Amino acid sequence: MDITILGIESSCDDTSAAVLRGNVLLSNVIASQEVHIRYGGVIPELASRAHQQNIIPVVDAALKGASLTLDDIDAIAFTRGPGLLGSLLVGVSFTKGLALAKNIPMVEVNHLQGHILSHFIDLPDRQLPHPSFPFLCLLVSGGHTQIVLVRDYLDMEIIGTTIDDAAGEAFDKCAKVMGLPYPGGPVIDRLAKEGDPKRFHFARPSVDGYDYSFSGLKTSFLYFLRDRMAEDPAFIEENKADLCASLQYTIIEILLNKLVKAARAFDITDIAIAGGVSANSGLREAIVREGKKRRWRTFLPEFKFTTDNAAMIAMTGMHRYLKGEFAPMDVSPVARISEL
Ligand code: KG4
Ligand code: ZN
Repeated sequence: MDITILGIESSCDDTSAAVLRGNVLLSNVIASQEVHIRYGGVIPELASRAHQQNIIPVVDAALKGASLTLDDIDAIAFTRGPGLLGSLLVGVSFTKGLALAKNIPMVEVNHLQGHILSHFIDLPDRQLPHPSFPFLCLLVSGGHTQIVLVRDYLDMEIIGTTIDDAAGEAFDKCAKVMGLPYPGGPVIDRLAKEGDPKRFHFARPSVDGYDYSFSGLKTSFLYFLRDRMAEDPAFIEENKADLCASLQYTIIEILLNKLVKAARAFDITDIAIAGGVSANSGLREAIVREGKKRRWRTFLPEFKFTTDNAAMIAMTGMHRYLKGEFAPMDVSPVARISEL
C-alpha cells in the first residue's frame, strides 16, 4: 500500500498544501499573497498574517482535491526552514495541532531539499523524467543559489553557493531599479524576449571554486543606469527590453559557467535545475543547449514545481517517513540551515 503524505509549505509568501500518494501527486494547492506587491517585496509580518488566514482553506482544498480525509493521511510533512520565521511558525504550529488532534506523525522538511526532490514527483496521468544518482542540481531561488551534489534522496552536499546575493535577488533588485513590479524575475523574463542580450555589458564576478556572487553585477547595473539616466531621463523606458535581455543573459552566463565547471570536475552528466529562477525561459533554453553540447541529460522542473509549493515538501517528507525520521512535538522552525 502506497504511503499518503499531506505536505504543508509556508516558508515565504505562498501558503501551500499538497497530497502525495507514493510518488503520485493527488493535489497541490497554492495561495499566493497579493499584499506584498504594492511594497515591492515581501513584508514578513504581513506574510505570516496571510498564512494564518490561508492555511485552513488551503489544507482543506488539498484534501478535497485528493478526495481524501485526514483519516487517510499517514504523515504530515511540513517545512521547518529555511525561511521567514513568522511564516514558518504558522505552518509548524498548524501541523502540530493537526498531528496532535488526529494522532498523525509529523515529518520535518528542509525547504531546499524539497526544491531538489521536486524532480521525483509524478502526475496521476503521466510519469515525469527523474534524474539518476548522483546528479548535480543548480538550485536557484529568491534566497539561494547553490550547486548541490545529490547522492541520494536525502544525501546531498552543497559544493558551491553564493557569497552574497541570490540569482533571484539579482533579478528582483535590478527589476526594482528599473521600476518594474515585484517579483521582478518573471517580468524581466517576459521583457527580455523582445530585447538584444548582447547590447549592454555588466560586471561579471571572479569568485573561486564553484561559488557565486551577484552583488557586483547588481551594483554595476545600478551605476550604469544612474549614469545613463543623468544623460537621458527616458533611457530606461526606451531601452527596457535590451536592458532586461542583457541582464538576464549575464545572470545565465554566470550560473552556467560554474555549473559546467562542476559537472566536468565531478564527471556527472545528469544535471537538474530547481527553485523559482528555474522557471526562467532563457535559463531553461540555455541549459538544454549546453546539455546537448556536453551530452548531459538535463532535467527541467514542471513550471508548477519551480516556485514554492507543498508537493515538493510532501515528496521529501515521504523519504524521511520511509527512513523513520519523525519530528518531535517540541520541534521549532529555523530561519537558516547551513547544511542540506
Ligand atoms: O523558489 P522561490 O519561489 O522562493 C524562494 O524560495 O526564494 O523563488 C522566488 C524567486 C524570485 O526571486 C523570483 O523573481 C524568481 O524566483 N523567479 C524568476 C522567474 N520566476 C520566478 N526569475 C527569473 N525568471 C522567472 N521566470
Ligand atoms: Zn523556495
